[in-house]
Amino acid sequence: MDQQQRLSKISVALHWIVALAMISLCAVGLVMTENEVWFLYPIHKSIGILIFAVIIVRVVWRLCQGWPQTIRKYAQYEQILAKLVHWVLLISTVLMPVSGILMSGVGGHGIAIFGWELLAPHHSSATPDQALPYNEFWAGVGESGHTIIGYVLIATIVLHVAGALKHHVIDRDATLKRMLGQNISGQ
Ligand code: HEM
Ligand code: HEM
Repeated sequence: MDQQQRLSKISVALHWIVALAMISLCAVGLVMTENEVWFLYPIHKSIGILIFAVIIVRVVWRLCQGWPQTIRKYAQYEQILAKLVHWVLLISTVLMPVSGILMSGVGGHGIAIFGWELLAPHHSSATPDQALPYNEFWAGVGESGHTIIGYVLIATIVLHVAGALKHHVIDRDATLKRMLGQNISGQ
């Protein structure tokens, strides 16, 4: 269980596994779309689907546990901003894989995890090289959602990391140390 002086090992592990995966997937997603690096697409999609399982565990864990208490009282605007940022981060970690799966699956591109096919690509016999969406509207919702939420997520991560560094460097408090698994009683 999370305590004010110490976060549980599960909370710390889930935070860093998902954080690392989200940052890497955003970087790979941007590089592959900007530069048309086609071999990265299946890698991006496979890791995105696999990490979705961890994300579900993380969200259930966080909703059952409640949010960690702050280590001390902060200005009200800071508390509200931090809570808002944490909610946006948590919700985006769910919406990114869901929109990605919608875009690829409903868009007819197929879904696979490192070659293990979960949904075959969908083609018409007239244009066998082109994916044929099962439903253009929902594939479009997935695609726009993935791009828009992707940019919102990146901006929110920047704000979140700036906040974590502010705690560590300017306020010189133990918020970051606690998320690194340290027991901060006495600090
Ligand atoms: C789990 C977290 C994920 C994150 C953080 C993420 C992030 C991103 C980002 C930032 C982009 C670039 C956005 C753009 O320029 O349009 C992107 C592109 C893309 N992602 Fe993801 N992604 C995730 C999961 C997935 C999954 C599960 C799939 C599919 C199964 C997927 C499929 C794609 C595809 C096909 C593109 C290229 C879109 C295009 O060409 O417009 N992603 N992703
Ligand atoms: C280098 C990058 C990161 C650093 C240094 C960092 C640091 C931290 C710190 C210090 C906290 C504790 C805040 C508190 O006690 O109130 C925290 C909480 C949190 N972080 Fe990060 N973080 C990073 C990346 C991310 C990413 C990429 C995500 C999600 C996309 C994320 C999602 C969250 C969430 C949802 C919380 C709330 C507490 C929880 O659910 O465990 N973080 N982070």
